[in-house]
Amino acid sequence: MQVPYHRYSFDEAEEQAVLATMRSGWLTSGARVAEFETKLAQARQAQEAVALSSCTAGLFLLLKSANLPADSEVITSPMTFAASANVIVQAGLKPIFADVDPITLNIDPTEVEKAITPRTKAIIAVHLAGHPCALDKLKALCEAHQLILIEDCAHALEASYLGKSVGLWGRGGSFSFYPNKNITTGEGGAVITNDTEVVKALRIWRNHGLDRDSFSRENTNLPGQYDIVVPGYKLGMNEMQAALGICQLDKLASFTEARLNRVAAYEAGLADLEGLDWLKPLPEAQSAWHLFIVRLRLDALRVGREQIVQELLAAGIQVSLTYKPVHLFSFYRQLGFTQGQFSVAESASPALFSLPLYPSLAPEAQAYVIDILKKVILSHQR
Ligand SMILES: Cc1ncc(COP(=O)(O)O)c(C=O)c1O
Repeated sequence: MQVPYHRYSFDEAEEQAVLATMRSGWLTSGARVAEFETKLAQARQAQEAVALSSCTAGLFLLLKSANLPADSEVITSPMTFAASANVIVQAGLKPIFADVDPITLNIDPTEVEKAITPRTKAIIAVHLAGHPCALDKLKALCEAHQLILIEDCAHALEASYLGKSVGLWGRGGSFSFYPNKNITTGEGGAVITNDTEVVKALRIWRNHGLDRDSFSRENTNLPGQYDIVVPGYKLGMNEMQAALGICQLDKLASFTEARLNRVAAYEAGLADLEGLDWLKPLPEAQSAWHLFIVRLRLDALRVGREQIVQELLAAGIQVSLTYKPVHLFSFYRQLGFTQGQFSVAESASPALFSLPLYPSLAPEAQAYVIDILKKVILSHQR
């Protein structure tokens, strides 16, 4: 059997919606983008949503539009994908990492506090796997030190902490709608926030710094009239992406239910194995369960992760090595980061990989993954 790491879930609804958009006469950001934003904001109980070309665009614009001084430091997690750190550099700011909590592998508020200096101006909290960070503690730190809190919610659509959606604990949170995410628009992202000033700024920064977008210009008596108020970027969402997103949001509840059922099946099937465990959300958090990240107990095994992964691949099961700590990649080493600086992230990383987890993962395919993984682990257990 072949079990791919990911498959997106589209049907005739998405096909019809995109076709209707192509025939509508309006392709760039317009009524469908506005509808997608309204639906997303409602789904997350947020005041507003701003649709963008990617989650990365959202993180970047949340930082860029804050107009921080050039030497500002921004603290983030090393246990993440490139984008969470790259945006700090792109915004002309200095990335600082703080080590992660050994249980969740999310940024550890105690380590964040140690990393704060007079130049620290912001924190980017990454909700790894869709499991929310300790947002109450991070928010308290931000208030005490007058820092901006930005949330990387790429994995975390549908996640909340202490009953409040991720993305709404600070300046804003950015979701990803990349094809392997909980919903997809092909490529795409969106920021949610309760701060109307942030919404205003992002709408301008995403569209060349113009004070009016082409949709509103088209629908006034003065087409083509605008002012340029900042040197903005081109980072909006188009109508075909939004058409996909509207359909996907309509299915979000059923996607989430399917995802949670598959998580429950992994948890039941892999319980009692000495050779592994998996990342779980904090008890006070509701996770979006974007990823099911297995953590091998290397001391209980005679082989390392590469051997286990090779055997899974040989059995037709695709997995993903999420994540190598960002500070260990070439660019960040050139900035001066070194092995040994963030020991929790560094020691956890070689034991991690993610299993297939998506609504269309068939129960037989998942049972096969569980069966093979168990056999592989048991064959190498000490
Ligand atoms: C933690 C994290 N942040 C940000 C991103 C970037 O998302 P996008 O591809 O939508 O820019 C990703 C992408 O997978 C991610 O995993």
